[in-house]
Amino acid sequence: MDWGHENRLARIFRPDTRHTVMLAADHGYFLGPISKLQVPRDTLEPLIPYADALMITRGVARTSVDPATAPALVLRVSGGASILKDDIANEGITVSIKEAVRLNASAVALSLFIGSDYEHQSILNLSHLVDEAQEYGIPVLAVTAVGRELEKRDARYLALACRIAAEHGASFVKTYYCEEFEKVVESCPVPLVIAGGPKLETARDALDLAYDAIKCGAQGVDMGRNVWQAEAPVAMIRALRAIVHEGATADQAEEILRAGRVAGALAGVH
Ligand code: R5P
Repeated sequence: MDWGHENRLARIFRPDTRHTVMLAADHGYFLGPISKLQVPRDTLEPLIPYADALMITRGVARTSVDPATAPALVLRVSGGASILKDDIANEGITVSIKEAVRLNASAVALSLFIGSDYEHQSILNLSHLVDEAQEYGIPVLAVTAVGRELEKRDARYLALACRIAAEHGASFVKTYYCEEFEKVVESCPVPLVIAGGPKLETARDALDLAYDAIKCGAQGVDMGRNVWQAEAPVAMIRALRAIVHEGATADQAEEILRAGRVAGALAGVH
């Protein structure tokens, strides 16, 4: 592996734990101003100190994140559809590698829509992005997107999608946790991080999800809604860090969350 590529990955995956807590806040690129992310700076600022990497678009990076204190940037570089259209899988590459270099991105990210009507275009997007990004030692994160078909999130489908992503050169893959997740991990030769998906019923559900995923071999989380739509976002990301980096159980993480909520309430913040 090239030195630059390795160095960038080491900014995302902490060298001492080889794991990462990424904060995903790129949702606006096709969903617009969704709940709790209407003003990205307000949402992100308190969470940034606890994120190893931030997954955002160039627009949010430039307008809403201080470059002096930003963690590693995982730059969203695919798009071209919005939630108003029938098929959000109709994506292309929207950002040049020159722009990624200018923004000092530690990785570039695109969605991969396996099984969709745009599967072919999506796989070629990934391959071309890998070709270009490799020239500059920039890792590529492939996101196994399911669009509106959330029921697709089973081990058979996700193992297929993750493997295809790795075969086409993704340096790491973002996917969903599912039953028999260890099968997804075992058949994917590059690191996996998990998304949280739509907000779960309770914070404990999200902690359980993270704990189970790490136990099965995920190398981190790249969660968005289950962090910044949580009742106490800072306490939530701190609890996730304990699971990912310190080997905490879901019970221990829930205790950190509870203590954080109490401290936040006393200080008048979350
Ligand atoms: C899709 O909107 C984005 O790629 C998100 O980064 C991804 O879905 C992860 O965020 P969440 O944990 O909210 O699912």
